[in-house]
Amino acid sequence: MIIELLKHITTSTPEYVKKMGYLREVIAIEHRFKRCKKEWKEHLELSKQTILDSLFLCTHNKRVVILGSGFLLDLPLRELSNTFEEVVLVDILHMPSVREAVSIFSNVVLITSDITGLAEKLYISRPKPEGSLPQSEPFLPYCDDDCSLVISLNILSQLPIIPSHYLMNDLKWKESEKLLCWSNQIMLDHYKALNHLKIPVCLISDYEMVYIDKKGNEIDRQITVPFLAKAKPYNQWRWNIAPIGIESRKYAVELIVSAFLLEKDKKTVR
Ligand SMILES: C[S@@+](CC[C@H](N)C(=O)[O-])C[C@H]1O[C@@H](n2cnc3c(N)ncnc32)[C@H](O)[C@@H]1O
Repeated sequence: MIIELLKHITTSTPEYVKKMGYLREVIAIEHRFKRCKKEWKEHLELSKQTILDSLFLCTHNKRVVILGSGFLLDLPLRELSNTFEEVVLVDILHMPSVREAVSIFSNVVLITSDITGLAEKLYISRPKPEGSLPQSEPFLPYCDDDCSLVISLNILSQLPIIPSHYLMNDLKWKESEKLLCWSNQIMLDHYKALNHLKIPVCLISDYEMVYIDKKGNEIDRQITVPFLAKAKPYNQWRWNIAPIGIESRKYAVELIVSAFLLEKDKKTVR
């Protein structure tokens, strides 16, 4: 706890990133990874393998852009660095340990950016519950003609989480249909932006959360990304994100993760 607090105090980020909770969330991910290494292993390996599988989509090896690079846990960075002339890692924040880890690769570039274009607007405008909410303006840096492959890496379902927590915890919004639709739209806008690219895309994201009791029985299920629920994936697996004792002593939480390999010209916009 003290280590996490120290990291929060000493890591420098723009004000909105810290105050809205992005830094806290990233520190929590690292902490949870350390506690659940064994349970997360399969998910991390499958994510890495899917990324390597997606290389066949590329028609050149100039640049790969990774959206949601985080702690690089699910990323085969060395292989990508050996394959592409340039590797661009995009995240709303890059922790000092990540900066250090990538410094040994001369062709890896870190871009710090909010890919929804929404967070700072929300932080500055502080919308009231009866007012309107700013819309996302997806920003996919470096995804131009020189880009060979874009990877959206376990980030899609995360995009509305901090913004809606900020609204509920700091601005006293209540859970509502309006908030739910707005959250879904943020995810859909990201998905549409990927679909509009004339570049191959590897999209890895959970779409459903499953709660399992101590006896191994499923007790509840919640959709995290509604429009992915019926899409046919390239691959699918379960991520045992919170074994019993992590989130609750009574149940474990698993995510159902789907991976989509979208060819350059064969994308479907919903
Ligand atoms: C679940 S993690 C993805 C796993 C990550 N690849 C790893 O190995 O840690 C989600 C990542 O998305 C980033 N993120 C969340 N919202 C973002 C946004 N609006 N723009 C850019 N990055 C964002 C977080 O900072 C976090 O690193």
